[in-house]
Amino acid sequence: MPTGAVVVTGAAAGIGAACVELFTERGLGVVAVDVSKEGLAAFTGNPNVVTLAGDAADPLTNDDAVALATSHFGRLHASVLNAGIGGAPPIEAPGAVESLDQIHAVNVRGLVLGIRSAAPALRAAGGGAIVVTASGAGLRGDPYTWAYNTTKAAAINLVRSAALDYAYQNIRINAVAPGLTETPRTARQRADPALSATLTRRVPLGRWSQPREQAEVIWFLASPASSYITGAVIPVDGGITASTGILLAPTYDGEPPQ
Ligand SMILES: NC(=O)c1ccc[n+]([C@@H]2O[C@H](COP(=O)([O-])OP(=O)(O)OC[C@H]3O[C@@H](n4cnc5c(N)ncnc54)[C@H](O)[C@@H]3O)[C@@H](O)[C@H]2O)c1
Repeated sequence: MPTGAVVVTGAAAGIGAACVELFTERGLGVVAVDVSKEGLAAFTGNPNVVTLAGDAADPLTNDDAVALATSHFGRLHASVLNAGIGGAPPIEAPGAVESLDQIHAVNVRGLVLGIRSAAPALRAAGGGAIVVTASGAGLRGDPYTWAYNTTKAAAINLVRSAALDYAYQNIRINAVAPGLTETPRTARQRADPALSATLTRRVPLGRWSQPREQAEVIWFLASPASSYITGAVIPVDGGITASTGILLAPTYDGEPPQ
């Protein structure tokens, strides 16, 4: 990985925080962007991290993040557009459409802004990478998460389409599609033993992912190791999307397979 900086949005917790940890361990500077000032305080004193409190759905935040990357670390190497939210009520409930607009602003508009801000700096550096944290929810439907799943599907097709626009500039744009991951966002599901067991049973590998396992694939997509990959969506989901969901994969019972 060359020197320089990576912008990470949604950097204060979960998958974003794991990216900050991994990228700095491997010698890159990180501009850590998050709406949570308190969350960003955890990076205080780390010389390889510059924090920026701001909303990924705000054009200024995206421009400022890229400007900080070049002014503090010399050049932008990659942008990890990871910030994402969910949580809309059922379609007929009050406020549902307003919730869709809020979720769309972060999960889709924020990505467009992130690409728009990063592209000139990456172009100036001779190329680079943009990695989007999408979701398995963008590849399939789920009950009662219509708004989230809709925006994640949009994120995936944005990645594919923008990758085509920018390929000739040597700017690669790819996505990871995480499955169940142990982050603050999923704390409620994990705290409910019955729900947690049901969800875990859907994962062929039989467990949730750690944020670091997502960050490793994001690192790969941001690094020259993936230099011939663009417009790809990589499920990092323990096998969930390999399945139609009709039959459950076997669980390991300690006996070798027959
Ligand atoms: N955790 C999972 O199981 C899972 C599964 C699939 C996809 N994802 C996706 O991974 C990404 C990260 O999820 P996570 O589980 O780490 O989330 P998280 O909620 O645990 O952490 C997200 C961080 O993003 C910040 N954030 C939220 N909105 C923001 C905004 N508008 N601008 C800047 N920062 C903002 C939050 O303050 C928080 O620090 C999201 O895009 C999410 O949709 C997560």
